[in-house]
Amino acid sequence: MLKTKKIIVLGSCNTDMLVHTHRLPAPGETIMGGDFIMTPGGKGANQAVAASRLGGEVTFITKIGNDIFGRQSLEVFKRENINTNFIFSDAEHPSGVALITVDKDAENCIVVAPGANKTLSKEDIDQCREIIESATILLMQLEIPIETVEYAAKIAYNAGVKVILNPAPASFLSTRLLQNIHILIPNIIEAEVISGVKISDGETAKKAADIIHQKGVGTIIITLGKFGVLLKEKGGYYNIPIESKIKAVDTTGAGDTFCGAICVGILEGMSMVESVGFANTAAGISVTRAGAQLSIPYRKEVETAKKS
Ligand code: RIB
Repeated sequence: MLKTKKIIVLGSCNTDMLVHTHRLPAPGETIMGGDFIMTPGGKGANQAVAASRLGGEVTFITKIGNDIFGRQSLEVFKRENINTNFIFSDAEHPSGVALITVDKDAENCIVVAPGANKTLSKEDIDQCREIIESATILLMQLEIPIETVEYAAKIAYNAGVKVILNPAPASFLSTRLLQNIHILIPNIIEAEVISGVKISDGETAKKAADIIHQKGVGTIIITLGKFGVLLKEKGGYYNIPIESKIKAVDTTGAGDTFCGAICVGILEGMSMVESVGFANTAAGISVTRAGAQLSIPYRKEVETAKKS
C-alpha cells in the first residue's frame, strides 16, 4: 500500500467551559472567578488542530453528538484544514464537554463529560481501517474507550504505521497495548501510573522510563513541566530543557500542542531530540495564551520564536 505523509489523530472532541480563578476551589467550596470562556477543546481535537497548524496533513477520527456543539466543532475542523471524512455522529449522546478551572499559576483542573466520545467503537474503526493503514503516524489519547484505542493501535502497528500514544487522562495500560506503541508521551502523573514509580527527580524519571520501555515501548518522552522533557530512545537518555523565561497564563492544551508538534517534527525528518525542541517551543507559546485550541500556535509563530 502507498505510504503518505499523513497524520491520523484518533480521539476526543469536547467543548471547553473555562473560568480563570485566583486558586482552585476546595471540595464543597464556592469561589468567584473571572469571565466565562467557551472554546473548542478535547485532547484529540486539540492535537489534530496543533498538528495541522504546524504543517501536518491531518485526518481526525472522532465522534460528536447531533447538537450545536458537535456542529460547531465540525466547522472548526474544516477551517483548520483537517480531513473530516471520518468524524462520526451519535444520535443518542451529546457532544463531549469539559469543565475547566485555571488558577493564577496557570494550573488547571478539568472534568470531562465524554458524551459521544465514549461511544467511538471498534466498528467505527473498521470503517477507517484503510486510511489508518495508509498513514505515516497514528496519534491517540485516552478520552475514548480503551478497547477502541487498543484496536486501532494493533491495526496501525501491524501495517507499519508509527503509533504514538499520549496516555491522558492517566490510566493503567495493558502490556498488550504498550507492545503496539512506538512512542509514549506521558506527563509525570501518567508515567507514575504506568510504571508504578514515584517520580521526584531526574533519576526516578529515568527509572519510570526504563520500566515503560521494558513493557514494550521503544521511545518514551516524559514531559516534566518546568523541568523540561526526559527523552529515552535507543538506550540513551536526553534531558531537553524548556525556555525558563516564559510567563504562563494557562497550561490547558499545552500537552496537546506538544504531541501534535512531535508528529510534525518526525514527519519532517527531524531527530527525536529536534522534534522535542520544536514541540517545546510550540507548547511554550501555547501557555502564554488562554484556552486550549485558541492558544495553539501556527508554524510561523514557532519559527519566529525559535529564531529569537
Ligand atoms: O488537554 C486539554 C483538554 O483536556 C481540554 O481541551 C479538555 O477538553 C480536555 O479534554
